[in-house]
Amino acid sequence: MELYGDFAAGPFTLGHLGQSVDGRIATETGHSHYVTGEENIIHLHRLRALADAVIVGAGTVAADDPALTVRHVTGRNPVRVVIDPKGTLPAVRKLFTDSDAPTLVLSTVEQGPGERIVLPPGPNGLDPAAVVETLRERGLTRLFVEGGGVTVSSFLKAGLLDRLQIVIAPLLIGSGVPAISLPSIQKMDEALRPPCRISRMGEDVLFDFDLRKSS
Ligand SMILES: NC(=O)c1ccc[n+]([C@@H]2O[C@H](COP(=O)([O-])OP(=O)(O)OC[C@H]3O[C@@H](n4cnc5c(N)ncnc54)[C@H](OP(=O)(O)O)[C@@H]3O)[C@@H](O)[C@H]2O)c1
Repeated sequence: MELYGDFAAGPFTLGHLGQSVDGRIATETGHSHYVTGEENIIHLHRLRALADAVIVGAGTVAADDPALTVRHVTGRNPVRVVIDPKGTLPAVRKLFTDSDAPTLVLSTVEQGPGERIVLPPGPNGLDPAAVVETLRERGLTRLFVEGGGVTVSSFLKAGLLDRLQIVIAPLLIGSGVPAISLPSIQKMDEALRPPCRISRMGEDVLFDFDLRKSS
């Protein structure tokens, strides 16, 4: 319950990544099924079931063609939200062709598949704060940022995550898609050290950072 209580109560924004010990969430070709073990996959589905909306970046939809539905636990499917600023995703992706849950596309481009919300381009793509605000206006307040690394990092950098869960699997990928990337720092005392609960999730280790207390 500790893992889900705050999130279930909402409004809340939670980011999650499953990475190798060497900080990769996929291989260089974008293959990521699966980095983490079965218990973490069930945990992911539970987070989806508790969320009003699950948010992913265009890179994840391009690489994985995910359904983003709840299948390993009982619960309803969240609204699926894709951040696709340049509108590059093709209409053949599952999110756009199945009818399992609504799909919103946040983009600077009006034309394309899915129900689209056009946002102005910011200096680094779409402003994550505008994404959160837009979704909250639609009554979507429990937000699960499921990946990939670029997307979760942009929400973290913008100070919009209440919690960040990093699950570390006991494997080395050696190269590939990075997990968290933030602007460079010079000294270790500039590193983020938020309060953290650590627990086992099968073979994996979950680092559950509480970012609300770190400012
Ligand atoms: N292990 C895990 O937990 C996990 C979870 C999810 C995905 N994955 C894997 O991760 C890989 C994809 O990750 P990724 O980091 O390369 O890509 P990503 O985060 O899925 O998508 C990045 C793209 O989304 C758009 N985007 C997202 N947030 C944005 C923002 N705030 N502002 C502007 N644009 C934003 C941009 O698209 P444009 O460049 O088109 O503007 C950006 O390049 C895939 O291989 C997938 O399999 C792993």
